[in-house]
Amino acid sequence: MSEREVLGVVHLVGAGPGAADLITVRGHRLVMSCDALVYDHLVAAELVEASQAKLKIYVGKVAGQHAMPQAKINALLVDLATRRGGPSQIVRLKGGDPFVFGRGGEEAFACLERGIPFSVVPGVSSGIAAPAAVGVPLTHRDFTRGVMFITGHARGDGDLDLPWEALVSSRFTLVFFMGVSTIERIASELIGHGLDASTPALVVQEATTPSQRHVTAELSDVANAVRIAEIKAPALLIVGQVAGLAPQLEGRRLPYAPSKPSSHRL
Ligand SMILES: C[S@@+](CC[C@H](N)C(=O)[O-])C[C@H]1O[C@@H](n2cnc3c(N)ncnc32)[C@H](O)[C@@H]1O
Repeated sequence: MSEREVLGVVHLVGAGPGAADLITVRGHRLVMSCDALVYDHLVAAELVEASQAKLKIYVGKVAGQHAMPQAKINALLVDLATRRGGPSQIVRLKGGDPFVFGRGGEEAFACLERGIPFSVVPGVSSGIAAPAAVGVPLTHRDFTRGVMFITGHARGDGDLDLPWEALVSSRFTLVFFMGVSTIERIASELIGHGLDASTPALVVQEATTPSQRHVTAELSDVANAVRIAEIKAPALLIVGQVAGLAPQLEGRRLPYAPSKPSSHRL
């Protein structure tokens, strides 16, 4: 494989959080004009459908099955870029931002190792978009000095190895990705490490899509609230005083209105 000539360029493009019109202008141009599109399940279907790419390859989760293993996706990108007569502009379209819990770094290294030219086009991460969509001003200066983006995904052995003490003592807004299945553990660790049980918490599901919904609760009750509301992934958990502002800002802001409503996601 390493002997093969490099013929294509790979663009790692962030699709934004869900709504088709929350991709960047540069990302949109590349998606529309590329020769090959390799895409995930968290990207707006409209983007994929509107792309002129001759080759469209889905590498996301199929119902009941896992997504294509990362090593296979890396190999696919390398294969496309080194295939004689293959595509010259390859877009790897990923939900949110490619470098925020998106494994875009692994794909970039795979390109680097094979000498394949690549670019990274940032996207609006759900970590930013989901709070904004429900009226949570992540870093409102009256309430916090910062924000932390954290994975709530447990390791293979089931352990959620996070620096709980540091998270709590920071007094920053805490945003957990992939934390629906571990929410009970997250809440109890935070409270166990000194965060007030009444701290506001909010969970947003499928932000910026027509299926968007959210629940707010005190930290001690948020796992329960999520269970009752049957909130499912993809969802984001926000913990901190700013989460308590959502009911006020929600009521006064215009509902999220994409220029062309996003009807479905892949
Ligand atoms: C593998 S991570 C990818 C994150 C992505 N790269 C980003 O920047 O948003 C998937 C997780 O992102 C979060 N997520 C992605 N899209 C979301 C959305 N529209 N609403 C809420 N959470 C979302 C969920 O926590 C989901 O489990």
